[in-house]
Amino acid sequence: MAKLKKSRGSFPGQNAAPQTASNQPSKDNAGDLADLENIETAMEASHKSVVSRDKEIGETAERPSGPVGLDIGTSHIVMAQNAGRHINTVNQLNAFFTIPYSKFTKKILVENDISFYSKGDQFYILGYSAENFANMFNTNTRRTMEKGILSSHEDEGITVLQSIISSLLAKTEKQEVVCFSMPGVPVDGNASVVYHESIIKMYLASLGYRPISINEGLATIMSELADDNFTGIGISMGGGMCNVCLSYLSVPVLNFSVQKGGDYIDTMVGASVGEPATRIKMIKEGTLNLASTPQDRVETALDIYYVDLVSHLLNTLEHELKTTDKMPNINNALPIALSGGTVLPKGFKDLFEKGLRKVNLPVEISEVRIADDPLNTTAKGAMVMALSEEI
Ligand SMILES: Nc1ncnc2c1ncn2[C@@H]1O[C@H](COP(=O)(O)OP(=O)(O)OP(=O)(O)O)[C@@H](O)[C@H]1O
Ligand SMILES: [Mg+2]
Repeated sequence: MAKLKKSRGSFPGQNAAPQTASNQPSKDNAGDLADLENIETAMEASHKSVVSRDKEIGETAERPSGPVGLDIGTSHIVMAQNAGRHINTVNQLNAFFTIPYSKFTKKILVENDISFYSKGDQFYILGYSAENFANMFNTNTRRTMEKGILSSHEDEGITVLQSIISSLLAKTEKQEVVCFSMPGVPVDGNASVVYHESIIKMYLASLGYRPISINEGLATIMSELADDNFTGIGISMGGGMCNVCLSYLSVPVLNFSVQKGGDYIDTMVGASVGEPATRIKMIKEGTLNLASTPQDRVETALDIYYVDLVSHLLNTLEHELKTTDKMPNINNALPIALSGGTVLPKGFKDLFEKGLRKVNLPVEISEVRIADDPLNTTAKGAMVMALSEEI
């Protein structure tokens, strides 16, 4: 295949407006030219760096003027906005904690700017505030999502998730585009992503936004593979799952998810060495170096389950690529872009490349690349898509 020409001004996979001979806008193609301008802005945004921060306790929700990217992840919800030379992201913990209702406690919560709502005889404490409470009570926060989608075990999960989203995004009348991340259909579970998507879409619409979903693997591609004409494989390895998308010229050809991620590593290592998963998570996030020889049994088990996760992911990728009937005839070698918190430890790229040599993918891989800012990649990619979708 001929080398792809670098394109400015359009996502190569999208319908570019036919140019008039003089390249002057005609009445008929004025709308198409506006689309091209949006796409140009989106392409520029994909080259910008991210400035990220945590949502502060007591901070009110924003009312964005402009398109928004929203990563609705098992561990975190991240909102991205285009802001001059950078992309700004704000992240909120996707967790909650319940405490018994009392008028006195309510006064204290309000005075301390804690995000919460009350239902029945309980207060539901939201986001980062919930983590502080859980630490104080020496227990775990509860999650609204499990393995990448709405938890079926939490009756209040939907209301809590909606409240956490509204701690980032305020009600508006501006109908701004919000492009939110959606997992691919899991190959190893019977979970319904359709239900998850509909609930989130309805809620964002009720807040006054124009919601559009983007596959999480494709979001990685939109964020990281602009210089490759948005052609390659994007893999987001998060807390609850790994999302994979193969895209050709920004068009998703194949996507799927496996319902294993960082949480799986924490649980399996914890069960193997007899330690709580939360302690394993702290060690993993704090000091794990996959490039060095393990010093104790926790590090040994972390190494083992990292290899296990990557090998499960790559074996599934091999199987999906070999059995799909949608595979385009790609002769060029494809890059793989990796994002999500699970790719953060030192030595992860080498471990992944080692795993890659053990499988026999039906496409050639040119290189493996770790995203610039793995925890914010999905939100950034979703925002790039949102910019191109603006009216
Ligand atoms: N420095 C780190 N080293 C190793 N793992 C980390 C690090 N920081 C975060 N993680 C892990 O990354 C995971 C969270 O990643 P991320 O925020 O990308 O997930 P998510 O988008 O919320 O989840 P998902 O996409 O699966 O729904 C957790 O398992 C967390 O323990
Ligand atoms: Mg994610």
